[in-house]
Amino acid sequence: MDRLQKVIANSGYCSRRHAETLMEKGKVQVNGVTITTLGTKVGKKDTIVVEGQPITTVEPVYYVLYKPEGCVSTTDDEKGRKTVLDLVPINERIYPVGRLDYDTSGVLLLTNDGEFNHKMTHPKSGIEKEYVAHVEGFVRKETSRKLERGIKLDGHKTRRARIQRVTYHKESESTTLHIILTEGKNRQVRRMFDTVGHPVTKLRRVRFGCVTVEGMAKGEVRHLRPHELKTLLHLARPRT
Ligand code: URA
Repeated sequence: MDRLQKVIANSGYCSRRHAETLMEKGKVQVNGVTITTLGTKVGKKDTIVVEGQPITTVEPVYYVLYKPEGCVSTTDDEKGRKTVLDLVPINERIYPVGRLDYDTSGVLLLTNDGEFNHKMTHPKSGIEKEYVAHVEGFVRKETSRKLERGIKLDGHKTRRARIQRVTYHKESESTTLHIILTEGKNRQVRRMFDTVGHPVTKLRRVRFGCVTVEGMAKGEVRHLRPHELKTLLHLARPRT
């Protein structure tokens, strides 16, 4: 038996918090009876309906994909481009946790657990995402410091970041560096470097929290290891 809001979140319908709101609003029925008590427990045989839609209870699953460039990280694409799900030989209904651009490669988590997805992508989670960026021009120390302190994107200052392992390439007049963010605004790394005049030419996410794709080939998928799941949930605890 599990708490009703957890079962709804695990189904991928919405986050646990939102499930609680829906319960309080009387939008959840179990075996035809409206349930508003948040602690209510349900089992596998119970029929759950949320906002008129039957919920299928599923075991939560968690995967890591080494996303290659040249695919979108949505479950379907209006332009008909290849999606990350085309690469994953898995029958379960899963979806990506957050996004990586079409041209960005690297660590991408996939799950069917709505609550986990919410925790990992919530701006307050503070989970570190580490990228290796190859950018045009030589990134000066002052520019790195400015990016680390935060710059304005869409009228909001980006959170503190860390830039490490800076390597200059004389012949191609370019720089490779690691940038560690704790948020995930749309195309954030590319837009940050665009703003300071160093367009990104290649971008790879090498770490999501404690998870890397070390030893994996591009396009390969594996189960998230139990200790990785535990650590991610610990890392995503809301900070006060
Ligand atoms: N920042 C970007 O610019 N692109 C990504 O895919 C991820 C972070």
